Amino acid sequence: HSFIVVVPAAGVGKRMKANCPKQYLTINGKSILAHTVDRLLSHPLIEKVILSLGEDDQYFAESELAQRDDIIRVDGGKERVDSVLNGLRAINAGEHPWVLVHDAARPCVQLSDIDRLISQCIENDSGGLLATPVRDTMKRGKKDNKNISTVDSTVEREQLWHALTPQLYKTEQLVNAIESALAKKIAITDESSAIEQAGLMSLLISASHENIKITHPDDLVLAEFILNKQKSQTMI
Ligand code: CTP
Ligand code: MG
Repeated sequence: HSFIVVVPAAGVGKRMKANCPKQYLTINGKSILAHTVDRLLSHPLIEKVILSLGEDDQYFAESELAQRDDIIRVDGGKERVDSVLNGLRAINAGEHPWVLVHDAARPCVQLSDIDRLISQCIENDSGGLLATPVRDTMKRGKKDNKNISTVDSTVEREQLWHALTPQLYKTEQLVNAIESALAKKIAITDESSAIEQAGLMSLLISASHENIKITHPDDLVLAEFILNKQKSQTMI
């Protein structure tokens, strides 16, 4: 098997409040997008990356990534799911029966977690996703008429997970699941949510907490710390 990864990178990064889309902010002189793509393509089983880019993306064409022949670019869409679907449509499912999807904003994903995702999904003949078990006690809140939140109840934590990426599914099943969810106007926030709607199985693969999604300004320093730590560890 060799794998293609669809990388949605067409977001504007509203919560990051930067002067460019967050995937083009730099860590150690290299864009977050380049960190993510380099990490993925350094995995021996990953052959190509399909990048979904924003229509008015002015940054990609000027980057070194634009010169690489293991990167295919497609247009992104209005929501993340639209960007992912555009990427999936560029894949020949006969040649690539399985496909990975990974957020551009997750540069710290570990190759060993990708290994486990791939091997466990293939072994169980099921799609799946990297996830981390929830650590804190979880509360359901309720708002009063003054918009003040109080605790409604404590949610059983035992079976709660944070959904990360990559997520790995059979290419044809994922395209069909997303298309049918979109037709039913069901909100799709990740690949697994489309697969769940289709009644298909999704394995939860316990992953490293280092695989953060850079979302808020604080996350940038955290990602820099994690990337530097990972670099020093592989040199030992
Ligand atoms: N994404 C995309 N197309 C969209 C929206 C998001 O390809 N229409 C991508 C982002 O570029 C990101 C990933 O999906 O790599 C995860 O989304 P998120 O972290 O929410 O990024 P943004 O949407 O850019 O950030 P925000 O929600 O704060 O605006
Ligand atoms: Mg978003």
